[in-house]
Amino acid sequence: MPSYSPAEVAAQYATERHLRTRIGTHERYSVGPGLEGTVDRLLALSGGEALLDVGTGPGDFPGRLRAGGHRGRIVGLDFSAGMVERAAEKYPEVEFLQGNATALPFADASFDVVTARHMLYHVPDVAAALAEFKRVLKPGGRFLAITNASGYMAELWDAVSEALPGEPILTELLSHRGGSEVFSEVHGEELVRAAFGNVQLDFVAGALAFEGPEPVLAYLESMSPMHKLTPDELNRIRAALTRVLTGRMQDGEWRVSKRVVFITAKR
Ligand SMILES: C[S@@+](CC[C@H](N)C(=O)[O-])C[C@H]1O[C@@H](n2cnc3c(N)ncnc32)[C@H](O)[C@@H]1O
Repeated sequence: MPSYSPAEVAAQYATERHLRTRIGTHERYSVGPGLEGTVDRLLALSGGEALLDVGTGPGDFPGRLRAGGHRGRIVGLDFSAGMVERAAEKYPEVEFLQGNATALPFADASFDVVTARHMLYHVPDVAAALAEFKRVLKPGGRFLAITNASGYMAELWDAVSEALPGEPILTELLSHRGGSEVFSEVHGEELVRAAFGNVQLDFVAGALAFEGPEPVLAYLESMSPMHKLTPDELNRIRAALTRVLTGRMQDGEWRVSKRVVFITAKR
């Protein structure tokens, strides 16, 4: 499956707007365990570690760590200048930098922990990014990636397939299905083991529970810059999907499953 082009990723993340729609949907409609408990358990931070969060987006994870009393250096790095600007405004007590995961602006062995949360499926050369993460980690340092596991939101993509049979946009939409076609536990385990010589996988399964079509449509529309959808195409998708979703929801709540994988390794 193709990865996103750098231009598609840049358009999607020029500002935090679209990402906020998706984060807001997860916050409001999720059932089951959240992700942060597993992050904290797996990282078991003492508070003194130097930590780099790659593809930090609006910087919520570094912001949470600092607010929780983390004393060590924390750097949030992102490709998007808009994200970095927003993160720096919101969390002035954290260091934010614009940069690329495949060419990190740090000396070898600079960090105790590197995290890459929901971002590796955007990187065309994941192996190059992993080599960089390993380079900037100190010996004994730890790496954590979070990504969508295979089958992520399968019910949503089934509904989209049913709504748009034979449409050329369907192929485009399905080719980027939640990123899990590009970097899931399958590619993740292989690539991380190849880079670090060890790997551990942990899964968290949950769901989104919807009672009406609107938030589902908003979620899908938040990906429109990446899929290069025109307003006309969006209207067609909206009408067709509303019909299918209304059918799915006629007996009440409709659940979309989401399984996330935490991939950890030691330098
Ligand atoms: C889905 S968002 C995740 C944001 C945040 N980590 C979170 O979990 O909410 C992906 C982020 O990765 C960034 N990104 C994509 N490719 C990148 C690259 N090659 N180097 C650094 N950041 C990148 C995007 O700009 C975007 O902010």
